[in-house]
Amino acid sequence: MSKMRAVLIKDGQGPIENLYIGETDKPVPMKGQVLVKIVAFGLNRTDLSQRQGNGPVRLGPSVSSILGLEFSGRVTELGEGVTRWAVGDEVFGLVRGGAYAEFINCNEGLLLKKPNHLSWVEAASIPENYITAYQALVKYGEVKKGDHVLIHAGASGVGIAAIQTARESGAATVTATASTPEKLDWLRSIPNGATHTVNYRTEDFAAEVRKTTNGRGVDIVIDVVGQSHWAKNIQSLAIDGRMIMLSALSGREVPSVNLGEILYKRLRIQGSTLRSRSLQYQTELIASFHDFIDKLTGANGGGPIRIYVHKVYPWTEIQSAHREMADNKNRGKIIVEIQ
Ligand SMILES: NC(=O)c1ccc[n+]([C@@H]2O[C@H](COP(=O)([O-])OP(=O)(O)OC[C@H]3O[C@@H](n4cnc5c(N)ncnc54)[C@H](OP(=O)(O)O)[C@@H]3O)[C@@H](O)[C@H]2O)c1
Repeated sequence: MSKMRAVLIKDGQGPIENLYIGETDKPVPMKGQVLVKIVAFGLNRTDLSQRQGNGPVRLGPSVSSILGLEFSGRVTELGEGVTRWAVGDEVFGLVRGGAYAEFINCNEGLLLKKPNHLSWVEAASIPENYITAYQALVKYGEVKKGDHVLIHAGASGVGIAAIQTARESGAATVTATASTPEKLDWLRSIPNGATHTVNYRTEDFAAEVRKTTNGRGVDIVIDVVGQSHWAKNIQSLAIDGRMIMLSALSGREVPSVNLGEILYKRLRIQGSTLRSRSLQYQTELIASFHDFIDKLTGANGGGPIRIYVHKVYPWTEIQSAHREMADNKNRGKIIVEIQ
């Protein structure tokens, strides 16, 4: 079997220092799959938990033990029956794992054509964050013109994608939370950024959104924080509000819950995942995301939604890239280039 280089984890899991570049089997494209030579891949928070051993156990053995959910690169080989792609095509895509490597097998329906005006780095930063934001806000949140939206971890990869998606969907206000004044200032300064920001460490975000919405509350909350934000999230929501839960970074258990507000405000609380969804679901979601992608970049890169890359690392510095994310320093996306 041919070999390739990939970022591997010493002992299968562990601290940042366990990441190293080693050799592993090069994948062979099966029926309906496309082999891509990766140029760049995106870092995601979930890579950190998978590295620590809290990864895709529930996703089953089909999930690669190699980290990495998104990439950009060139098609080098086609599996049986592939019709949509040709060798040499420039693509970017979403996978359940395996993108921290020189080559990856991707189902043909999970690939997108890389527009010429997007760099490899920009293309690699799109799939996980923007498809997650699209699914949460458009599909589940049913965001519409005039809605008021609250987005936690606003400066995260997902957060900045969600803020812009909400603005582009016509939200009247988009309040974003983050932990530092620098992140908050940045979120208000960017085109299509947050209309309001709250430092959740020093301010009460529920009180702030009440002021912003003249006491009405927000129609949609996009939450990745969980436990510590739960009570204030429920307080923040307006009648018929929707909360889409993407993660629970602060903890999964909420000790005492008053169901009254959920009941009387007719709230909808929706969990949302992307990686664990079936191939068919992901293929359909990506197909519906195709139209949205034009807004992401515009025909010549001047579209209303922008890509914000925090920092680009060579893959020889993969440990530094993980450290930057673990320290919560990133504003936007961390991307790694393969040399
Ligand atoms: N369900 C899905 O479909 C789906 C898909 C993609 C991602 N996600 C989830 O979305 C979240 C964001 O992902 P990402 O890759 O965009 O993350 P990221 O860029 O690493 O940003 C995460 C940010 O969350 C904030 N945060 C708030 N409370 C935190 C806490 N208790 N512990 C750690 N960080 C906290 C931090 O910003 P501040 O310093 O400003 O607080 C941190 O920088 C992750 O939890 C990820 O697992 C879910």
